[in-house]
Amino acid sequence: MLDLNTTYTEKFVASGELAAYAEAHAHVLARCQAGEERYADSQGWLEVDEWAGPAVLDRTERLAAELRAIADTFVIIGVGGSNNSARAVIKALRPNGARIVYAGNTLSAHELNGVLAELEGHDVVIDCIAKNFETLEPGSSFRLLRQYLVGRYGKEEAARRIVCTGTIGSSLEELCRAEGYTFVPFATNVGGRYTALTEVHLLPLAVAGADIRALAAGAKRMQEQLRKTDGLENSAWRYACLRNILWDRGYRVELLGFFEPRFRWFSKWWEQLYAESEGKDGKGIFPAALECSEEMHSLGQYAQDGTHQLFETFIDLMEPGAGDSLVLGGTDVADAFGYLDGKDFWDINKASFNATRAAHAEVLPVLTLEIDRIDEEHFGMLFYWFAFACYASGSLLGVNPFDQPGVEAYKRLMFEALGK
Ligand code: PA5
Repeated sequence: MLDLNTTYTEKFVASGELAAYAEAHAHVLARCQAGEERYADSQGWLEVDEWAGPAVLDRTERLAAELRAIADTFVIIGVGGSNNSARAVIKALRPNGARIVYAGNTLSAHELNGVLAELEGHDVVIDCIAKNFETLEPGSSFRLLRQYLVGRYGKEEAARRIVCTGTIGSSLEELCRAEGYTFVPFATNVGGRYTALTEVHLLPLAVAGADIRALAAGAKRMQEQLRKTDGLENSAWRYACLRNILWDRGYRVELLGFFEPRFRWFSKWWEQLYAESEGKDGKGIFPAALECSEEMHSLGQYAQDGTHQLFETFIDLMEPGAGDSLVLGGTDVADAFGYLDGKDFWDINKASFNATRAAHAEVLPVLTLEIDRIDEEHFGMLFYWFAFACYASGSLLGVNPFDQPGVEAYKRLMFEALGK
């Protein structure tokens, strides 16, 4: 189950106003549900089966098994949309397969030396994931790690240990053909940050031991709900409408809050999705994470007392799963925490969340995305839900949610400086 609780926004946005807004923009929802010709080259993700159907899942699991037979460590070389989704799931669930190391997302020599050190004593496979194969971070890391593999295994064996996920017809594909590397096609009609349910992430996830079938099933369940449900019954549409009403009222920042640090890397995925999709043409809500309890002691102060330009969306994990219970025993030491005797940290954490939400909701709109569990199926739901909502929200805002012209400016200057 995944649902959006908007009780704590009603003080700020009356239900009649929300209903009227949703009704007046119903044509936008209808367009998003059907997909649009003008975005045809970016909407392959709308239909989960197109890039995560049974044939893709079979071939991904086969390749993952082959790679795991020769390696205990798999390096994801990718940045932004080419690593965020897989990392979100792997870091949260810690599945039982190959160890995953991340590269291609930094130019820091210190970090890259750390990556090389992490490979010593392990059997390694690398996957260079790059839609354009022009991005500096993955391109330079790929060369570094390719050279490392050749030095360690020799050219022929290194080739067996190199996979590339790239665009058909790109120079990366040519390089694979020339050098004998395994080539996995990057979903042709899906932009980087929308690729969670494609081989770009399914392969690393399968190698890491995650259940990619459950992930795809969760996403498909969401697809069926969101593309068929009209009006405010559609929770992603409700979220999109609320965001835009708040935007019109001058709210400029959205904090994605969570009391389970397992959502830390998911929040990075979410930040990228919303920042690159909506932040353009002088518009867009700034997306930022609020990791609790830690940041209740920093950003929490600002949320409660600072300028009234931000609202919050909390992810609330409803059911305790394995490892989610820990009872704090009583003590005869006078430590001032006697009121916690015999209480479970699960309940203590919930009390902290409920108190935070109640306090914040006095001064700012608070949305709550409720999910039953944290597992592959629910990650599939979350990926689809937020992607669909982002498409709808960006459309309401009047921007193209699938391009990212802004990042080209820094790249031009950087390439100039490096003599490209
Ligand atoms: O959403 C996007 O398209 C971008 O954020 C890309 O994912 C990111 O820039 C990485 O691009 P590439 O895979 O071409 O290196």
